[in-house]
Amino acid sequence: LRTGRGVAHAKVILFGEHAVVHGEPAIALPIDALGVHATAAHVPGDLTVRSSLYTGPLADAPDLMSAPRAVVHATLDRLGLPHRDIAITVIGDVPHARGLGSSAAVAGALVRALADHAGQPLDEATYLELVDVGEKVAHGTPSGLDARATAASQPVWFEAGVARRLATRMTAVLVVADSGHAGRTRHAVGSVASFLERHPVRGAALIAGLGALAHGAALDLAADRPSQVGEKMTTAQGMLRELGVSSPELDVLVDAAMAAGALGAKLTGGGQGGCVIALVRDVAEADAVGTALRAAGAVAVWHHPIGPDTED
Ligand code: PMV
Repeated sequence: LRTGRGVAHAKVILFGEHAVVHGEPAIALPIDALGVHATAAHVPGDLTVRSSLYTGPLADAPDLMSAPRAVVHATLDRLGLPHRDIAITVIGDVPHARGLGSSAAVAGALVRALADHAGQPLDEATYLELVDVGEKVAHGTPSGLDARATAASQPVWFEAGVARRLATRMTAVLVVADSGHAGRTRHAVGSVASFLERHPVRGAALIAGLGALAHGAALDLAADRPSQVGEKMTTAQGMLRELGVSSPELDVLVDAAMAAGALGAKLTGGGQGGCVIALVRDVAEADAVGTALRAAGAVAVWHHPIGPDTED
């Protein structure tokens, strides 16, 4: 049995978080500058893991490892491997619980490393199913978007459980800022469900509105209309805030990005903490907006260039 290796990367949701849980489409972008690498080596004895969150026998891992643990067990079962004699390592720079898909990226890297260790390549459906084992532990009813976006190398259009590559001709820069507060995806998904129960008409309008923004943004991306994409991001932020998934810290960051000249800004991912994204035209604007975001409390800022990505 060889030492298996697997990688996956971060993602941001540009449009459609939360609405995607209720059947609307979403657009996600891979952030391959932030990655997770896993290895799985044959070492006789307990099944062990070495990671920044925990090192030791997987069976003794604390609760915060329950999602990766579930993924490892499900993957070993699928591969027909015993739950021992494997030493797993996980390293990465995707911040944990910030809406950047760290749980899906860790799961994806683990699934690939174990499959590589076993010398059994997995088909895409099996890969996605195994990653979603962890996403279900992490936040109950995952849409499946993170599992795909953390494995994709192109922008993703995700609708009704199906992902496809999204063609874009837009040139711009996305500034990603970490609020320093853990996102609470599971809680936020519950907040939206409760909003829909309490305000069914308004809730349905907001979910449909978020879906319409994703549809419109796909056209703007294809036609290189960054200012329209930005406007839609800010509109989406207002809707997400009304649904209860923003937070005072995220609102402050969104306002700071807009005041510094961003074309648009919003939370990304589950929300109630985590990251905001701001759209700007170029690197100079990204520097200005990044500085403003740090001054407003962001603990880390990344620049993600967006370039044309078409089939032709
Ligand atoms: O917080 P993240 O990166 O796990 O993103 C969650 C996105 C949601 O739409 C809120 C949930 C989902 O499963 O799609």
